[in-house]
Amino acid sequence: MEQRAHIRKGLFISLEGLDGCGKTTQIKALRCAFQREGKEVIDFREPGCTHLGEQLREIVLHSDSHIGERAELLIYLSSRAQVTDEIVIPALSEGKVVIADRYADSSVAYQGFGRAIGAEKVKALNDFAIKNTYPDITFLLEISVSEALKRLENKPLDRLEKERGTFFQRVHEGYEWLYQQNPQRFVKIPGELEPKEVGQQILKVLKGRGFLGK
Ligand code: TYD
Repeated sequence: MEQRAHIRKGLFISLEGLDGCGKTTQIKALRCAFQREGKEVIDFREPGCTHLGEQLREIVLHSDSHIGERAELLIYLSSRAQVTDEIVIPALSEGKVVIADRYADSSVAYQGFGRAIGAEKVKALNDFAIKNTYPDITFLLEISVSEALKRLENKPLDRLEKERGTFFQRVHEGYEWLYQQNPQRFVKIPGELEPKEVGQQILKVLKGRGFLGK
């Protein structure tokens, strides 16, 4: 059971899924929906967003140097600790809506399962890095491994995407494990639908839970 270490007045939403699942399009739509209600919205992508985070993003996604599995995990965690302190916790305590394009769950799926470091180990490190600041709700945009590979063929690949194949299969299993472990926080949305339809389903869930007006 995830426990909160902070009093929060705001709302924390994260979007997760395999590469190419369409998170970024949905985040734009979500931001507009909350802004129409007069809410202040902050969104960020992982890794990145803070000055340190963008430097780490460059290293972890685009560097040619060999990065070992533990080092890779710790880079993501380092970026996450920084964004949690600089952006997430202050914004939530000020009552803002925070939308994360990937957060702690990505490390469990990609490093815990994809790299086979182990889910529980990654979870314990995540808890420390984010001071238990888990999202209120996490949308898992579900696409099949073959659909993810197909979608990636149309754009230049970053370092992780180049490894694909069976790696993605394990990441997919990792997300399923996370979903089973966190049935209240995780909501699955079929990411292979038209983006507009995906957006409507997300809004419906948010309204149903009282996070967004009718
Ligand atoms: P990005 O270009 O942001 O891809 P996407 O649009 O699919 O999110 O690259 C992020 C990559 O980093 C993606 O392949 C997932 C990976 N990643 C991890 O392996 N672990 C993590 O903790 C995070 C946040 C991302």
